[in-house]
Amino acid sequence: MPTVLKASCKAPTNIAFIKYWGKKDEVLRVPENSSISMNLDKLFTITTVEFSPRFKKDSFQLKNEKTEVKEQQRVFKHLDQIRAKARITYKAKVMSVNNFPASTGLSSSASGMAALTVAAAAALKLKLSKKELSRLARLGSGSSCRSIPDGFVQWQAGNDHKTSVAVSLYPPDYWEILDVVVIASQEKKDISSTVGHSLAGSSPFLPVRLKMMPEKIKKLKMYLKQKDFSKFASLSEQEALNMHAVMITSNPSLLYWTPNTLTLMKQVQRWRQEGVNVYFTINTGQDIHLLTQKKDLNKLVSKLKNLKIVKKIIVNKPGRGARLIKKHLF
Ligand code: PMV
Repeated sequence: MPTVLKASCKAPTNIAFIKYWGKKDEVLRVPENSSISMNLDKLFTITTVEFSPRFKKDSFQLKNEKTEVKEQQRVFKHLDQIRAKARITYKAKVMSVNNFPASTGLSSSASGMAALTVAAAAALKLKLSKKELSRLARLGSGSSCRSIPDGFVQWQAGNDHKTSVAVSLYPPDYWEILDVVVIASQEKKDISSTVGHSLAGSSPFLPVRLKMMPEKIKKLKMYLKQKDFSKFASLSEQEALNMHAVMITSNPSLLYWTPNTLTLMKQVQRWRQEGVNVYFTINTGQDIHLLTQKKDLNKLVSKLKNLKIVKKIIVNKPGRGARLIKKHLF
């Protein structure tokens, strides 16, 4: 009886306070700058991977969602890199489920690739450290390397495969800041972040952004250490706008916001004037992440519920990184 090469993983999405935009190395996904994030405890992907000589070809199914050929190929290509490490050529069956809509800016590629990496490596009996798993996940999707370690995480940009790796700065229970995810649209974004990253260099503002980065990272880490919420979240908001300035001014221009995103951004600034301590951050999608604390949560939620454009609210605390689970999807 041959051994069963099967494993499952649950991996969170993460929200970056200092964003990753642009790559020094497109193949290794070595980023232009270091980034800082936290894992979200309520948004995750579960993936089961099985390798077997019985399978004639690789297959990938995303439960309750259609997968495009491009997505399938990305999964298979990533499996190839993990198979190469294990020196095994068996084909794989992969099944995943997201507990949120994919490709709307909620970083499904981060949780998806982290879950795939950890499950596939375990199924192939590879004994890898968290750092090795983070490097491997990065090859599948840059931001997924930050979904491997626990809690608050820094992805050190580095210069090559070895040095570009994410590590935990603090565990999830270090600081209870909240990320209220507001879904205002469930349309898929029309330009993937992979294409977006490759355009970063066409913005005249990328060099300015990169020059400011070391100082910005230093400040954010200081506010994190001091647990100074207003300074921390305000800097995160400015940072998101800075990244979007690069996106908007790239050629062709990348405008990821929808009218609803802008409405929410303006509301957040108004609510702040009314005394609710809330800040926004946005990735490449139509959805918006609101940073706040427990004491302001009820006020914020009731304000959000009064807005017609708000379809769903998901309140996240800092979460753990990717981990193996016993229950398989098939
Ligand atoms: O890892 P990717 O290719 O999905 O890029 C993610 C980029 C942003 O979400 C916009 C920023 C970030 O650091 O998460």
